[in-house]
Amino acid sequence: MAVLELHDLHKRFRLGQEIIHALAGVSLSVEAGQMVAIMGASGSGKSTLLHLAGGLDLPDSGRVIVEGREINRMSDRRRTIFRRRRIGIIFQTFNLLPTLTARENVAVPLLVDGVPASRIAERVDRILDLVHIAHRAGHRPQAMSGGEQQRVAIARALLNDPALILADEPTGNLDSVNAAEIWQLLGQLARNHGKTVLLVTHEAAAASYADRIHVLKDGRVVGTIDKVEPGNASLVAAQYAQLAG
Ligand SMILES: Nc1ncnc2c1ncn2[C@@H]1O[C@H](COP(=O)(O)OP(=O)(O)OP(=O)(O)O)[C@@H](O)[C@H]1O
Ligand SMILES: [Mg+2]
Repeated sequence: MAVLELHDLHKRFRLGQEIIHALAGVSLSVEAGQMVAIMGASGSGKSTLLHLAGGLDLPDSGRVIVEGREINRMSDRRRTIFRRRRIGIIFQTFNLLPTLTARENVAVPLLVDGVPASRIAERVDRILDLVHIAHRAGHRPQAMSGGEQQRVAIARALLNDPALILADEPTGNLDSVNAAEIWQLLGQLARNHGKTVLLVTHEAAAASYADRIHVLKDGRVVGTIDKVEPGNASLVAAQYAQLAG
């Protein structure tokens, strides 16, 4: 089943007199249990695509369907509720609250939703374990590495058991070792836990962990790269250069 379907998405931005066609007809779908990467240069439309997929912004035309529901037709309020329940979003910046521990940072969305404290503790510990960060549960962000902080942010995004995980350059602030661990983790969430993951990146190394890579150029998908051996960045880079060059 396709958990995410994008149909002929168009999005323009006006900047003074200039009209920027950020997305010029993008269609793609991602099946349950798959990790798909969108790879493109700066300005190719990756973040715009991710924002539309997550209902953070609306297309000028086209349709965004998550778990069979057309989110671009929902009211703002319904779309916000749907996103909180079914979609987890991860950004380059971890956005953790500095005065809270890892455990508390993950618990914040549940506290806001009024879930009883006893149920929160059990769920938070399970999720911290899932992303291999349980041993840092009592640490504040400043006492964790960047990779550990991003795993806490991923735990927070997973807390509501979303079907769809959207990640926008999630390893932009990490060194290559920590970055590779995050790419592996996202791949495991898809393969072993049935999540559907859309990863947008300009890095061939990141994209190499995906089941399929769509190459974005000037707001259009110009080609698709089939699965490679995870970590084989040079093979991805070579195919990318042919498609986007
Ligand atoms: N709010 C906005 N107003 C005007 N132009 C915008 C806006 N958001 C994005 N754009 C433009 O749309 C195009 C696509 O932007 P987008 O952020 O999607 O690119 P990107 O592929 O994520 O780039 P990067 O790798 O640098 O993050 C760019 O030309 C950008 O300048
Ligand atoms: Mg971007």
